[in-house]
Amino acid sequence: MLLQDVEWDQALIEKYNSSSPRYTSYPTALEFSPRFSEEDFREAAQRYPTRPLSLYLHIPFCHQLCYFCGCNKVVTRHSEKAERYLQQLINEIRTRATLFSLRPLTQIHFGGGTPTFLSDAQLAEVMRVITEVFTVDNSAEISLELDPRQFPLERLAALRRIGFNRLSMGVQDFDPVVQQRVNREQDEAQIVELITAMKRLGFTSTNIDLIYGLPQQTAESFAHTIDRVLTLRPDRMSVFNYAHMPELFAAQRKIKSDELPSAAQKLRILQQTIMQLQAGGYQFIGMDHFALPEDELARAQRAGSLQRNFQGYTTQSQTDLLGVGVSAISMVGDTYSQNEKTLTGWASRLAEKGSAIVRGLTLSAEDCLRRDIITTLMCQFSIEISQVEARISQPFDDYFAEELRLLAPMQDDGLLRITPERIQVTAKGRLLVRHICLCFDQYSRARAAQQAFSRVI
Ligand SMILES: C[S@@+](CC[C@H](N)C(=O)[O-])C[C@H]1O[C@@H](n2cnc3c(N)ncnc32)[C@H](O)[C@@H]1O
Ligand code: SF4
Repeated sequence: MLLQDVEWDQALIEKYNSSSPRYTSYPTALEFSPRFSEEDFREAAQRYPTRPLSLYLHIPFCHQLCYFCGCNKVVTRHSEKAERYLQQLINEIRTRATLFSLRPLTQIHFGGGTPTFLSDAQLAEVMRVITEVFTVDNSAEISLELDPRQFPLERLAALRRIGFNRLSMGVQDFDPVVQQRVNREQDEAQIVELITAMKRLGFTSTNIDLIYGLPQQTAESFAHTIDRVLTLRPDRMSVFNYAHMPELFAAQRKIKSDELPSAAQKLRILQQTIMQLQAGGYQFIGMDHFALPEDELARAQRAGSLQRNFQGYTTQSQTDLLGVGVSAISMVGDTYSQNEKTLTGWASRLAEKGSAIVRGLTLSAEDCLRRDIITTLMCQFSIEISQVEARISQPFDDYFAEELRLLAPMQDDGLLRITPERIQVTAKGRLLVRHICLCFDQYSRARAAQQAFSRVI
């Protein structure tokens, strides 16, 4: 499948520029319930006993606080905290592994926080335990998120020896004024050296994270950052929309709201970023993500096999995801579940109950159907009517009459085309695909109806 470049339509983007879920899961985390139990999780682990497994490890520690950060992290200078955490994490890994003994481990990802807060010896120890208790596939993707500050170049070779073959690095913005405002000053020359060395050492699918919408950013300054990143040519790029929620993240209160770009400026930055990256040869994967056409994420999208999970886009299909560590999320069988979000809560639950799960959801058959439709729309930008009908044993138009009614004005606006064969998102609808997915989201509709009802009474 050839994917056209995404098309920017200012009027449409302004019309539909309201918030909607990112659909890293359907139903979204808003539907997770405390009634979900460890027994539910264990049962789910048995549902597809030989399905490949992807393992996510959350390492929450960071050396220094970036004011914009919305991740689950603990800023500390005390490395002994990490040592204690690691022992508890290893206990969790060992306990969980017994439930997944028949499965090949095809993906391991260390996220955070900052996994490189851990020393090479600590990372090697966790990897040793993983290979001891799981069957790690020979071609497994083993990746880690890296903070380029406080990261000596020599560590890269050590990471390679430990088994890592992919890296993702936070850069955010190269502009010194923006960096100063968000308390994240870093040396551009060092980042250049790191990327060069990563390529030399054979790391693949190298990713760089950027954020648009940070204080003191302008269309011109961010264009300069993108130009600099284009010369580095990472395989993948994530360009996140800055989520400013100071009531939720105390550190964001240090960011002066009058220094933030306006909504109109942010749109201009995004438009220009997309144009620059497409002109620079990157494929727009969807929702903040870009990849070089030869990267496997881009190839999977063209082949129709791209998937989406809590970590974003992935090439791993029909894989369960096991999350370990504080706040980690799992997608096992037809369930989602999440560990306790605070470090002390996570540790005490693990010690007392042997499980840190505090909420989750078992999907109904209807949820699974809608999840597959939404994932396909998010990844492939089209759905085949006959494939859906094969699952519902009745005409699509009857089953999804309400959805088609909601989609009709979007079709009139040119976001999508509905034919008897498929629903196809157009080049200008691709940036608004979340709104199209929203039409298939029963929970969001129920919430909207409830809100409207409470406003009326
Ligand atoms: C866990 S961090 C990356 C690894 C490492 N800690 C670092 O900062 O380099 C994941 C990414 O989330 C993004 N991020 C964090 N807070 C954000 C926010 N409030 N809005 C948008 N993106 C955010 C940043 O781009 C960051 O690189
Ligand atoms: S952006 Fe990365 S380094 Fe900065 S506080 Fe967040 S997790 Fe830590």
